[in-house]
Amino acid sequence: MSLTAYKASDLFRWIKDNDTDFFLLDVRSESDFGRFKVEGPNPIQMKNVPYIDFSDEEEEESVAQVPRDKKIRVVCAREGSAKYVGEVLIKHGFEDVAYLEGGIKTWGNLLVPKRVDGGASEYSLYQFIRPAKASCSYGLVYKDELMIFDPTKEIDFYQKFASEKGCRIVRTFETHLQADYISGSPAIARETGADLMAHENDFYGAAFSYQAIQDEQVYHFTDGGPEVKVIHTPGHTPGSTSYVIDDKYMIAGDTVFLVSIGRPDLGGKVEEWSQLLFETLGTKVGNMDPELVVLPGHFMSWDEADSNLIFRDTLASIKEKNRAIFNLDDSAQFLQFIKDNMREQPEVYAKIRQVNAGRLEVDLDEQNVMDLGKNECAASAAKK
Ligand SMILES: [Fe+2]
Repeated sequence: MSLTAYKASDLFRWIKDNDTDFFLLDVRSESDFGRFKVEGPNPIQMKNVPYIDFSDEEEEESVAQVPRDKKIRVVCAREGSAKYVGEVLIKHGFEDVAYLEGGIKTWGNLLVPKRVDGGASEYSLYQFIRPAKASCSYGLVYKDELMIFDPTKEIDFYQKFASEKGCRIVRTFETHLQADYISGSPAIARETGADLMAHENDFYGAAFSYQAIQDEQVYHFTDGGPEVKVIHTPGHTPGSTSYVIDDKYMIAGDTVFLVSIGRPDLGGKVEEWSQLLFETLGTKVGNMDPELVVLPGHFMSWDEADSNLIFRDTLASIKEKNRAIFNLDDSAQFLQFIKDNMREQPEVYAKIRQVNAGRLEVDLDEQNVMDLGKNECAASAAKK
């Protein structure tokens, strides 16, 4: 047997289908593995054996740690070490061995499209799940035009999606200045001519041009189609904005999650931003249609997904499930809740903000490193 290759999308499919036949052998260093590992909607049989252990007198011992009754899928940082370990395993008689093409970053960047609307409307709305980051971006298609929301830097994906749907990207909306991942909006605007839409409170001083969105403003496609209504929902950041689509869906960014809410402490102004968020949840979100389907910017756990593996819930249900937060009735209690849940943010967030405002340029390799890992955007710590 010879060594074969697999893609990040194959890996997601095996995990999603709960394929118990495969075993994931992660050959990155212990510290890289400790920082970030493959996770998905089902448990994964996985082990970390650093590739260096396959290259010396420990080879036999390392090989003995790999089960012989499974398909072995090797992953490493770039590709080379997984190929190397794969060849070692084949030399030792393993029959079905494959390496992840492009390394762990391809898993880090993978996007999985899910259609959110029921298919009966004149438009189609997609959630693009990024399993490695536990984040979601969105696409709204009407006739031959596509609007996107919070795209990642994987801009080829969105361009390919647009061409498969026979449309062009006309606008790219940001819900806020992201701290946890590199936004694809500036590159998409540059490459396609789409308008970049963002709130001045977050993007003032950005090194690229954008159209400043205003509260209550409504956007349409060239031929009409579904309404995209801007609702300024400050708190997670001062410019945080939600978008209500066709009076039915709320692309909520990091304001409201299915579990918890977006942290207002990431900008170092916890008292001020908590007050903003408290008012947003009370007066803005509090007055919205409870039947709106909330589409979050992040999730904490795969348990939040519905049976179609889509992250969505009605506003009424979210308020009920998060009543401990929504029922806090004064801003002092709210601030206390935020402070009780505060934790360090990854150091790289300050740098990502700079990149997202166009004030810092880093090459693609470094972007991939900065961008790897789960988000830390919710006010209560992610479940283990
Ligand atoms: Fe955020």
